[in-house]
Order: sequence, then structure tokens, then C-alpha cells
Amino acid sequence: MKQFNKKGEKMIIVNRLLAATLVSMLGFSAVNAASNDALVKEGRKVFVTKKLGNCLACHTVQNDPNIPQAGNIGPKLSNMDTYPKEYIFNKIWDPNKTNPNTVMPPQGRSHKISKHQIDALVAYLQATAKAK
Ligand code: HEC
Repeated sequence: MKQFNKKGEKMIIVNRLLAATLVSMLGFSAVNAASNDALVKEGRKVFVTKKLGNCLACHTVQNDPNIPQAGNIGPKLSNMDTYPKEYIFNKIWDPNKTNPNTVMPPQGRSHKISKHQIDALVAYLQATAKAK
């Protein structure tokens, strides 16, 4: 094997550092993906559970055939990935803000569900739209 001069050794160190950084970045995004999966799962639970969001009483969603497609009082929640997260969050927090006559209950404002649970609902709704 060829002998390295000082510059060559430095390059090896730089390359190792780059590789280590890359590996830790990949690890980080894997962790992020895993925590988003957990959030999506939690959101689905809030969506279908009567004592929590009970959203399926009025809504259906896209691409989640295993939930009962019962609700037709509200619009089908499709293409939610094209909506800004804040729009969906605010709608769930207090739908009366954008529509004073809506029958949708203000479940965030009334503290029936938490901000975290609304974040989970947003993650779930956007994930169902993406799973095409
Ligand atoms: C009692 C029936 C009812 C329940 C329960 C209900 N909604 Fe709604 N929802 C509606 C109606 C009606 C609309 C359309 C009128 C409006 O915009 O307020 C709507 C609108 C929405 C919108 C906006 C859709 C769009 O295309 O702009 C979102 C998002 C939404 N609901 C999510 C939810 C989530 C999540 C839950 C559960 C936490 C929920 N809703 C519970 C009736 C309901």
C-alpha cells in the first residue's frame, strides 16, 4: 500500500469525519421518521375514538380503508397534504373562527383534546393523503 504524506493523512481524517456526520444525520432522520409514525398512529386513535376526537362520526378520510367510512356530515378529508398544517390545526382547535355556523365542535378550545392530540390529528390526516 502506498505511503501517505501529511496531506493524505489529513484527507483521511476529513473523510472519516464526513462519513461520521453522514451516518449521524441518517440516524437522526430515521428517528424523526419513527416519531412521525408514532404521531400518525396516535392521531388515528384520536380520530376514531368516541371519547377523544370522534371525527369519524362526521368525516371520512382518504387511503385508510380499515376505518369505518361512516361520517358524511362534514366533507371528506382528502388531499390534506396540500393544506398548511396551521389551517388544519386551527380548524380543529376552533372551527367557529372560520365558519360561525359550523356544526363541527371546537374540541381544542373546549379542551376536549390537547394541542398535542391536534398535532397528531394533523400528522394523521396529512399521512392518509400521502399514502397513494
Ligand atoms: C358534528 C360533526 C363534525 C365533527 C364531530 C367533526 N367535524 Fe370536522 N367538519 C364538520 C363540518 C360540517 C365541516 C365543514 C364546515 C366547516 O368548515 O366548518 C368540517 C370541516 C373540517 C375540516 C376542514 C375541511 C376543509 O376541506 O376545509 C377539517 C380539517 C376537519 N373538519 C377536521 C375534523 C377533525 C380532525 C375532527 C375530529 C377532531 C372533526 N373534524 C370533527 C363536521 C364535523
